[in-house]
This record gives sequence, structure tokens and C-alpha cells, in this order.
Amino acid sequence: MKVILINGSPRANGCTFTALSEIANELKNNEIDSEIVYIGSIEKSIDKAFIKEMKDKIESSSALIVGSPVYYAAPTPIITSFMIELMKVLDKDKIALMPAASIASARRAGTTPTIDQLNKFFTISQMPIVSSQYWPMVHGNTPEEVKKDEEGLQIMRVLAKNMAYMIKAFKLANLEKPILEKRKRTNFI
Ligand SMILES: Cc1cc2nc3c(=O)[nH]c(=O)nc-3n(C[C@H](O)[C@H](O)[C@H](O)COP(=O)(O)O)c2cc1C
Repeated sequence: MKVILINGSPRANGCTFTALSEIANELKNNEIDSEIVYIGSIEKSIDKAFIKEMKDKIESSSALIVGSPVYYAAPTPIITSFMIELMKVLDKDKIALMPAASIASARRAGTTPTIDQLNKFFTISQMPIVSSQYWPMVHGNTPEEVKKDEEGLQIMRVLAKNMAYMIKAFKLANLEKPILEKRKRTNFI
């Protein structure tokens, strides 16, 4: 049971990493392994070898979390280009019903549109969104400020607890997944 957490910030150890680390720690407290993946640049986010590596990693994991700083009330170009390339190659059968979540870090505003936009990648892929007791955001411009956002960090921990519960419940149920219907594509003309 392992969760992949993606850091969509250009800063490896910034605010988004601080929030993701809180989730990773709480997952560990709930006997779930995790790995925080740093992308770092737009070039890397669309690199074919990296995308293939991430495809394999995610398809063999139990859940996926993406995190982004808010840039002009939106996710970063790094995480957006990465998700677009990743979704092209992910095996839809393997990711269907895999729990997922998006989190955002901001100095002040634009968190909810950022989270909503990232969740769109999951809700078009039959991936259930794991929620917390508030929309999953932290506030701060530096990791030190984020560490003072006690409510934000609590939201991250509750998200981790809920995700651990869902992963364990799915494993325990040991059910066959529903057979996916062949997709119809009715374009508007
Ligand atoms: C180009 C740019 C745009 C930003 N836009 C916003 C914004 O719209 N709203 C906001 O509250 N903070 C904004 N910020 C601040 C970051 O979202 C905030 O500092 C975040 O916590 C940084 O996370 P990181 O350390 O993981 O990169 C912006 C920062 C940059 C560099």
C-alpha cells in the first residue's frame, strides 16, 4: 500500500513540499508508505522517459495526490503540463477507482480554483476524490509560515487519515472492479 505524492512547485522544499510532507507523515502513522516526487521544471514535466517512469509508478500504487502552489489563481504550468502528458498514457483500467486528491499552497487566494482544476484530471478518470474537513489548502510564502498554519496542516493530516482508511477498506473488500464500458465519443458538431 503506497501513495505517490507529486510536488508541482519549482521549489523542491517549499510550501507545497511542507504540506505534502505532513500528509506523508500521517500516512506513515496509518501504516501506508508514500513517496514525494519532485518534477522541478516544465522540460522534465513533459520528458517522455520521466512520464513513462511515473506511469509505471502510479499504476502500481494505491493512490495519487498532486500538490501545487497557486500561480495567478491556478495550478503551476509544471503540474498542468505533467498531468496532461501523464493522463495521455495512464492505463484507464488500472487507475479507475484509485483514490486521489489535490492540494494547494498559496500566500493568500486562488486555492479553490487550483484544487478544482487539478481534481478535473481525476473526475474524468473514475478516480474517487478523498476529501478532508475543509478544502485541502495551506497558506504561506515560506515553509516556516506554512508550519504556523495549524489549520492547514490539520486539514492535510485528516486528508491522509481518510485516504489511508479508503485504501485499507478497498483492499479488505477485495472486490473485482466493474468492467469498464467501451467509451463512446459523441462530439458536438
Ligand atoms: C508566479 C507566482 C504567482 C503567484 N500567484 C499567487 C496567487 O495567485 N495567489 C496567492 O495567494 N499566492 C500566489 N503566489 C504565491 C505562492 O502561491 C505561495 O508562496 C506558495 O505557497 C508557494 O509554494 P511553494 O513554496 O511550494 O512554491 C504566487 C507565486 C508566484 C511565484
